[in-house]
Amino acid sequence: MLGKFWKWFWSPTSKYSWGAIFIVGGIAGIIFWGGFNTAMEESNSLYFCANACHEMTDFIVPEYQQSIHFTNAQGVRAICADCHVPKEWGPKVIRKIKATWELWGKITGSINTREKFEAKREALAVKVWLEMKENNSQECRNCHSYEAMDWHAQSLVAQREMQKAMREGKTCIDCHKGIAHKLPEGYEEDSPVYEEDLKNL
Ligand code: HEC
Ligand code: HEC
Ligand code: HEC
Repeated sequence: MLGKFWKWFWSPTSKYSWGAIFIVGGIAGIIFWGGFNTAMEESNSLYFCANACHEMTDFIVPEYQQSIHFTNAQGVRAICADCHVPKEWGPKVIRKIKATWELWGKITGSINTREKFEAKREALAVKVWLEMKENNSQECRNCHSYEAMDWHAQSLVAQREMQKAMREGKTCIDCHKGIAHKLPEGYEEDSPVYEEDLKNL
């Protein structure tokens, strides 16, 4: 029985055996998988995001370059993907699919001028804020955490507010908006944001 299966396994067609098909298929799969993941990593690089389109190069990058997340005394940089793309594989793929959809905005030129961009900025920012509220500012917490904070090294306001925030279960983005970009007009760092806001935009 097993012998018969084995014989069939190695020669199901007159030309190629299953063994050969599996091996070739397996190699093709590995190459595809590697390529897919490499493409996903490549598209996470600062160079890729910063040059993806003139909207990024002209409107987003100059503001980001003024921020503490671009240069600081410690020399630790947060790039676009650190804040905008999840680290885990599944959510990362979902984010990439959404990004592909966003290309539609690029094609239709929905933010291709400074005026259009500023007009859309609030809606874009609110979307990011809601996502970050939803996941408890996971991307921020990949680098920062309350546990790792040396309260004594912080200003009095910082330690008082954040120890309170920790007790009340508030998340980073509740209080720290506009840490890499200018805030949309009419917003403060700690403006509350609600789901309904997005519907009205
Ligand atoms: C890749 C790591 C990384 C990520 C991700 C990150 N940060 Fe930072 N953050 C830093 C570093 C490094 C500094 C600079 C520390 C310093 O020089 O004091 C910093 C500084 C800050 C500061 C101090 C600002 C100031 O003016 O002193 C705040 C507030 C902050 N981050 C909030 C956030 C929030 C909110 C997020 C998520 C949206 C976030 N960070 C994501 C690494 C990161
Ligand atoms: C209830 C509001 C609130 C929440 C929630 C909050 N912070 Fe803060 N944070 C502050 C205030 C106020 C300061 C002091 C003023 C400032 O630097 O913006 C501060 C300061 C900081 C600083 C600079 C500290 C220093 O003295 O150099 C960092 C970094 C920071 N916060 C990161 C975070 C991160 C990361 C989270 C989420 C884990 C978080 N904060 C959650 C209110 C908050
Ligand atoms: C330290 C975290 C952080 C980094 C680094 C970062 N962003 Fe953001 N980004 C945010 C947050 C938070 C928002 C929501 C609006 C706000 O608070 O400024 C946002 C909003 C945006 C928006 C919506 C428009 C707006 O101004 O609000 C775009 C587009 C964007 N980011 C692209 C980028 C690109 C491209 C890079 C890299 C050049 C980048 N971001 C780097 C955290 C970050």
